[in-house]
Amino acid sequence: MNAPTILVFDSGLGGLTVHAHVARARPDARIVYVADDEVFPYGRLTNGELIERVTAVFSRLLPLIEPDLIVIACNTASTIALAALRERFATSFVGTVPAVKPAAAATRSRRISVLGTPGTVRQEYTAELIRNFASDCRVTLVGAPRLAALAEAHMRGEAVSDDDLAAEIAPCFVEDEGGRTDVVALACTHYPLVLSRLEALAPWPVTWIDPAPAIARRVVQLLGEAPAGVPARTDGTALFTAGRALTPALATVLAERGLSPAVVEPVPSRLTPAVPSFK
Ligand code: DGL
Repeated sequence: MNAPTILVFDSGLGGLTVHAHVARARPDARIVYVADDEVFPYGRLTNGELIERVTAVFSRLLPLIEPDLIVIACNTASTIALAALRERFATSFVGTVPAVKPAAAATRSRRISVLGTPGTVRQEYTAELIRNFASDCRVTLVGAPRLAALAEAHMRGEAVSDDDLAAEIAPCFVEDEGGRTDVVALACTHYPLVLSRLEALAPWPVTWIDPAPAIARRVVQLLGEAPAGVPARTDGTALFTAGRALTPALATVLAERGLSPAVVEPVPSRLTPAVPSFK
């Protein structure tokens, strides 16, 4: 297949961390980045609301985009809705799920933390990954209520305090008589957006695991390698479902990532009330 179209999907800007690796792995691909900012953050939805919402968004957008492959660059949507999406739509999907297996492979202290949205960490899917791949580890599940929204604000160019970020990651750092946490799996694609700040705020150094490179490898497994020597495309599109204007800082971030123009394709929701501000 030549020059495939890849749809990279998230509730907001977190999927940009996956987009960067996918775009590097298949520089010839036409990429459409979809941010379902109408109902962000997904972490506060019930499973039923989330499945209903993502199904509605894909029903609306797939005929417009006609992707060859869809990357769900969102742990919350993948752990809750991936099975339903695969059942409903014929397009191939690649999901993003908590990197428990690489975390268990990397830890020396056998103490790992899984940092995700409250939605992701309460899923049976996550519990099963831990049973299957980390049964010999002490695993601390941390559902960070505000960290995805703080990462979004950071990307929009707003001030986000160190204290707010530190409070979100504090429960990941566990110390007992036998040792302390040495690996944190970043189980929300928003968190690598602020990784350098999280590293600086950590009470002690740990290995942070970002699943994005593994997702890009899976994309190449499914679509094949890009033809040798193709130049990177810069005509990607970012599509936002809420209809809000982008800040100049965000427009710049998107353009730097080859996602310009940014367009708005409103997909209104009756499912959820207005998002409470994180401030
Ligand atoms: N980026 C998302 C994830 O990987 C979700 C953030 C949210 O909408 O709560 O889980």
